[in-house]
Amino acid sequence: MADNVVLVGFMGAGKSSVGRILARRLGRCFVETDEMITAAEGRPIPEIFVERGEAHFRALEDEAVRLLALKRGDVIATGGGLPCRDGLPEALRAIGTVVWLSGEFAPLYERALRGGDRPMLHGRTREQALALYESRKPFYAQADVTVDTTTLNPDQVAAKVAAALAERRRQAV
Ligand code: S3P
Repeated sequence: MADNVVLVGFMGAGKSSVGRILARRLGRCFVETDEMITAAEGRPIPEIFVERGEAHFRALEDEAVRLLALKRGDVIATGGGLPCRDGLPEALRAIGTVVWLSGEFAPLYERALRGGDRPMLHGRTREQALALYESRKPFYAQADVTVDTTTLNPDQVAAKVAAALAERRRQAV
């Protein structure tokens, strides 16, 4: 086991902010699949969606997952849709301990709308975004650990994740 920590969850769950805090706390490197893709393609994700479409973006995510298999001991934040296809939850669990930053739809959606340009919310009504959230939950739920982020700030979530990981290590001994 490569001992990475892999954060998954819907847009707005705080994967990037929590990941950064957690990595600092654990003295690990922080990696984001969205950053890997942006760097490899040389353009931002909204542009990739517009110019090449979602299917191409998902193929780039698959390639990122293959590269993640080389990582050791990192904290990895994934894009919100990355684990949500057949075979991906298993592929992530082979890379490290998968942590689902879960939460109620409304606060996640509000945060996702406020922060940054998210192509998956373009042209989707609130009801359609809710349907996307519901359809993704069974994939996120295959994580090793679930941390409910509702009402917590990123520092508090990172502390909860660190405690859950420590507890898992204790139980494994
Ligand atoms: C996506 C989420 C985004 C990014 C891309 C697609 C999705 O990441 O990977 O826009 O399908 O939910 P965040 O979860 O960090 O917003």
